[in-house]
Amino acid sequence: MEPAEKASAALVLIASLIGLVGADDNAIGTGSILSATGNTAWLSSSGKFAFGFYKEGSGFAVGIKFFPIPNSHYSTVIWTADRDHQPLSANANLTFGNEGLVLHLDEGDRIITDSYDGSLQLAFASMKNSGNFIVYDSEYNIAWKTFDNPTDTLMAGQKFPIGHNLISSVSENNQSSGRFRFTMQRDGNIVLSPVNTPDTETHAYWALKTIGYNGLVLDDDGSLRLAGLNFSGQPLIPRLNSSQGVSVHFLRMEADGYLRIYSTNQSGLMMVSAQIPADNNKCFIKGACGLNSYCNSTGNGYVNCLCFPGYVYIDRSRVFVGCERNFTRWSCEAVNGSTGNRAFYKISTLHNITWSDDSYNISTVKSDHECSDACFRDCDCYAALFLPSTKLCNKQRYPFQYGRVLLDQDEPTVAFFKVGLAEQENQLSVKPVSRENLRMLGTVPLVLPLLLTATFAIVLDFLIFFLCRYRMGTYRRLCESMETGLAKAMAPRSFSYKQLKDATDGYKEEIGEGIYGKVYRGLLPPCDAGTPIAVKKLKNVRGKVEEKFRNELKSIGRVHHRNLVRLLGFCHEGSDWILVYEYMNRGSLADLIFQSHEAPPSWKQRVSIAMDVARGLYYLHEGCDVAIIHGDIKPENVLIGDDGIAKIGDLGLAKHLQPGNHITYTRPRGTPGYKAPEWAKPCDWVSPKVDVVSFGILLLELLCLKKFWHLQELDGEFNLASWAYKYLKGETKWQVPGGDVDAEELQEMMKVALWCLHGSPEKRPSMYDVVMMLGRKKIVEFPPVPLLDWNNRADSDQPPMADVERG
Ligand SMILES: *[C@@H]1O[C@H](CO)[C@@H](O)[C@H](O)[C@H]1NC(C)=O
Ligand SMILES: *[C@@H]1O[C@H](CO)[C@@H](O)[C@H](O)[C@H]1NC(C)=O
Ligand SMILES: *[C@@H]1O[C@H](CO)[C@@H](O)[C@H](O)[C@H]1NC(C)=O
Ligand SMILES: *[C@@H]1O[C@H](CO)[C@@H](O)[C@H](O)[C@H]1NC(C)=O
Ligand SMILES: *[C@@H]1O[C@H](CO)[C@@H](O)[C@H](O)[C@H]1NC(C)=O
Ligand SMILES: *[C@@H]1O[C@H](CO)[C@@H](O)[C@H](O)[C@H]1NC(C)=O
Ligand SMILES: *[C@@H]1O[C@H](CO)[C@@H](O)[C@H](O)[C@H]1NC(C)=O
Ligand SMILES: *[C@@H]1O[C@H](CO)[C@@H](O)[C@H](O)[C@H]1NC(C)=O
Ligand SMILES: *[C@@H]1O[C@H](CO)[C@@H](O)[C@H](O)[C@H]1NC(C)=O
Ligand SMILES: *[C@@H]1O[C@H](CO)[C@@H](O)[C@H](O)[C@H]1NC(C)=O
Repeated sequence: MEPAEKASAALVLIASLIGLVGADDNAIGTGSILSATGNTAWLSSSGKFAFGFYKEGSGFAVGIKFFPIPNSHYSTVIWTADRDHQPLSANANLTFGNEGLVLHLDEGDRIITDSYDGSLQLAFASMKNSGNFIVYDSEYNIAWKTFDNPTDTLMAGQKFPIGHNLISSVSENNQSSGRFRFTMQRDGNIVLSPVNTPDTETHAYWALKTIGYNGLVLDDDGSLRLAGLNFSGQPLIPRLNSSQGVSVHFLRMEADGYLRIYSTNQSGLMMVSAQIPADNNKCFIKGACGLNSYCNSTGNGYVNCLCFPGYVYIDRSRVFVGCERNFTRWSCEAVNGSTGNRAFYKISTLHNITWSDDSYNISTVKSDHECSDACFRDCDCYAALFLPSTKLCNKQRYPFQYGRVLLDQDEPTVAFFKVGLAEQENQLSVKPVSRENLRMLGTVPLVLPLLLTATFAIVLDFLIFFLCRYRMGTYRRLCESMETGLAKAMAPRSFSYKQLKDATDGYKEEIGEGIYGKVYRGLLPPCDAGTPIAVKKLKNVRGKVEEKFRNELKSIGRVHHRNLVRLLGFCHEGSDWILVYEYMNRGSLADLIFQSHEAPPSWKQRVSIAMDVARGLYYLHEGCDVAIIHGDIKPENVLIGDDGIAKIGDLGLAKHLQPGNHITYTRPRGTPGYKAPEWAKPCDWVSPKVDVVSFGILLLELLCLKKFWHLQELDGEFNLASWAYKYLKGETKWQVPGGDVDAEELQEMMKVALWCLHGSPEKRPSMYDVVMMLGRKKIVEFPPVPLLDWNNRADSDQPPMADVERG
């Protein structure tokens, strides 16, 4: 035995003596190893749970399997490490050592217990009979456990704290993240909804409102209980119970969108003892079918996803992904009144269907024909829904979500879809761009097919995961080897108060003032290469706020990107915090576009700045394991360096998400006039999509060299979005300043900006989409009508709130 192994064996012995690892537990000491092909696993003493490699697809995954009857052939996977990782090769090994559970792969090592950030070494682990795999540190504290990181399954006795998600798997045989989620929202609502949607009523297909509880627990008797301030208290309302299951129960968010509780009897027969929602009509599961399609129940528990007229499947082999248009919309100026319309479109009718209402114009009409005609004549109309009982004609925004066939007892509807004519029917010999051409351009029209994006995101995450992992690995090692020159370059360093006072010559030259404090120019001493710096003083950062702020610094410190202003270091004395950033000597984008009217930036420069900002934001949102929301994107916060490269600054406002969560809760923040509509409602959900809106506004300002608001002189339009829409339709004469503007490029970029301003976050492009569209790697569809009641008008808003105080 190696000395380390001896020590660990002793620890395991002591642990079992003091009862941590019960006599019936199998303790796993450091030095233990499993291999993918070794056919071994770490078992619970009951033999019902096995931690180890299991086969998935063409390779392997690491996880926990549950055998209701030990040694029987039936088993089910209850937990998977890194579920969205591609299957592991047969060479993979897993070791347990002082640094935790480490996967050894051909492409390098990965730490599974990576969320453990304590100072003690990890000493032993145990597969419990509850299904929990626990890792202990050398003082016998629980350092990490699988119950804290559930995937789609909750075991009996497992706690499910408020704010957490269970995400369904792709299928029974594929544990990657699927399409549905079960969440106990922070507002107390317990909700089932599609993944990647905000926590709003529109997207929930089952919800239970509770107040004052802070989690759920699946009780040993199979009832799902609401848990109060602590989990050990008396059982609270037994909301959902199950029939008399004899043995272990678990609850699973299933691939088909249902939440089911399972029990097993002594023969090991797995039975469903409760199901939510109770209704077996799967068409009520929002997200059962993707955008631009509708769900038709076949009656025997299956559903059909059918495209709306004029739309075709994005992926014929996975029809639930949704549909896209089989024609390209002609821009309005190409259409010559209704004559032009008739040359390109016809109307197709569908009875008794519905979808999530997103109307931009509702009017009372005399007949269904009048409604169909109104849509036909309106360039902006893609579809209209007519309600015969009330004679209301609802013109709808594109795309269409949560379509389904109505039930017999529902009020009948008539839907009209504008459908592109095929070439031979086309009266003018103008050739529409066919889908094949779109495909050849490597594009998917901007429909945001959630799953396609998700697939890509998984691949991308995978790449980024390795890049980040590699960098962080380097970072850790360098820190251990103390202040080498490289370490200084990698991580923000700590400065003394005096150093900064000297560097700024006693805070002499003020170069700006933000809502948090003043910014000064400084110069590091020659031993630090005489680097120019910007020094930002923050006042009164105390208590809880300070804790948050420290965490913030940790994540910002790790962010490195060409289009983000670097944080070089900080200084902390009392409640004063001073941040040291790289100095950007050409000032802010606001100065450049709003103030230099004699020499406006060239068109080329405007395009390159737009791309810089988009790339920087894309990196913040998707570049690392934690998504960072900037929260205050505006021209004042974009700085221009010597080389003309634009960088996003003031990451101090950044609010980041917990790993695995795609949304976070926060109070309204950001600057009035640049805020997403969803900021306006307090305590509402917030996702990286709020930055997309701010980016859209910034982009319009950058393109037009005008403020978004206060534009009385622009054809009577009061904001740049309505004006840009008019411009795209060829209805305005005002020209964008600058002699060298490329009109075609301008139009494309305006379209991108208008999509960014979409009122519904889920229909807004992600920053990835934006980068692709700006880079002409993706075709930009004609945008929908901009939101009319834009509720963040600068004049109707409260003053901005500082995040350092409110977080
Ligand atoms: C599981 O599903 C994901 C997403 O659809 C896919 O990318 C992955 O290849 C699948 N894995 C296996 C093993 O089939
Ligand atoms: C896994 O272990 C085996 C035997 O110890 C070794 O040959 C193989 O290279 C290891 N694989 C990796 C990826 O480390
Ligand atoms: C936690 O539960 C125990 C009972 O197990 C109870 O006595 C205690 O008051 C509870 N604490 C809180 C904060 O609810
Ligand atoms: C809960 O259990 C009780 C008695 O065991 C039963 O009457 C009731 O119908 C059950 N409720 C549900 C939702 O299954
Ligand atoms: C388990 O359930 C199945 C089906 O309900 C039943 O046929 C079987 O007898 C049960 N076994 C025991 C031991 O209760
Ligand atoms: C829905 O499916 C049924 C058959 O299951 C079919 O008769 C009906 O026409 C379909 N409805 C629509 C609107 O496609
Ligand atoms: C699109 O599909 C519809 C049927 O849904 C068809 O009538 C139309 O001709 C197609 N248009 C093109 C341009 O292929
Ligand atoms: C467009 O409209 C004008 C006048 O309304 C008419 O003269 C012209 O022929 C139309 N063009 C087409 C292509 O229909
Ligand atoms: C709605 O559309 C009708 C024509 O279809 C038009 O007369 C009316 O002005 C529109 N209303 C708004 C608010 O745009
Ligand atoms: C739509 O539903 C109504 C009421 O269920 C029914 O009377 C009508 O025939 C349906 N229309 C079509 C075209 O199926």
